[in-house]
Amino acid sequence: AGLAVVAKAAGKKYFGSATDNPELTDTSYVAQLSNIKDFNQITPGNSMKWDATEGTRGTFTFTNADTIVALAQKNGQLIRGHTCVWHSQLPSWVSNGGFNTTTLTSVVQSHTTNVVGHFKGKIWDVVNEPFNDDGSWRTSVFYNTLGTSFVAIALQAARAADPAAKLYINDYNIDGTGAKSTAMVNLVKSLKASNTPIDGVGIQAHLIVGQVPSTMQANIAQFTALGVEVAITELDIRMTLPVTDALLAQQKKDYQTVIAACKAVVGCIGVTIWDYTDKYSWVPSVFPGQGAPLPWDANLVKKPAYDGIVAGFA
Ligand code: G3I
Repeated sequence: AGLAVVAKAAGKKYFGSATDNPELTDTSYVAQLSNIKDFNQITPGNSMKWDATEGTRGTFTFTNADTIVALAQKNGQLIRGHTCVWHSQLPSWVSNGGFNTTTLTSVVQSHTTNVVGHFKGKIWDVVNEPFNDDGSWRTSVFYNTLGTSFVAIALQAARAADPAAKLYINDYNIDGTGAKSTAMVNLVKSLKASNTPIDGVGIQAHLIVGQVPSTMQANIAQFTALGVEVAITELDIRMTLPVTDALLAQQKKDYQTVIAACKAVVGCIGVTIWDYTDKYSWVPSVFPGQGAPLPWDANLVKKPAYDGIVAGFA
């Protein structure tokens, strides 16, 4: 039936995949990416990030991002914008700029305004990865200079740039309950209390085979109970290589578990996998000896995980 078809039948808005510009020369890859039955949503994996869009202060470059948006438009797919304010893939003119509070505030406002304003009507990961794993605030030029206020500064600029955009905060290791998820709960509460626009929490879900948190559904529910929506934004479930039948069977179960957790909570609106084929996964380059985290193998053949996703939505 297709992953997006079963996701919609389960009441979700979308099932999607990340992609990246270099992959778009691979015609069989693009054909599957464009299959609306499996994917009715796309996230640009790199081309909307700060280094890609404002490598030089005040000069905005949207060529690569526009290419992906045009592809999605042609296919009839939604876009998640990723991401406005993040400590990584940040040009050194921002990270080492030595800006004071006033100037960095306007740098963040200008960046967010221009990027969100260029791509209207999207869902946005406005702020990415604000927390450390213990729930403390991550050190970054934004936090160091502006304290926690950088989050509200970015969200307010995004809302002003496009009142129709859905505004998210996105992080990893907030899949199950725990200190980092509690920090996210507290942040959303304080944003709501101060009338700062916030529409959703993005759970990245970069997971490990055999280690899906048992509290995932309860955790999604604790976010939606705050009056925000939830999306699973970067799902992949990696394994220690080599691939075996047993690992593929466990991976299938794990995908089913994650999808079932989202299915069970009405406010969990969609799921995005962080690319769809092992051919283009980020995992092996960052975790040597690990990989094969996606539902299609490197030859674009469906793995058991595909059926796990279908079963999770069933
Ligand atoms: O663009 C350069 C290219 O010019 C150069 O030749 C090449 C050589 O290595 O590197 C290219 O940059 C790479 C970039 O991806 C684009 O391909 C960077 O080295 C590489 O580090 C970067 O990795 C990306 C990573 O974010 C950076 O943190 C991954 O593709 C991307 O999938 C990954 O995505 C992140 C999310 O944004 C946030 N959550 C975690 C997730 C996985 O790390």
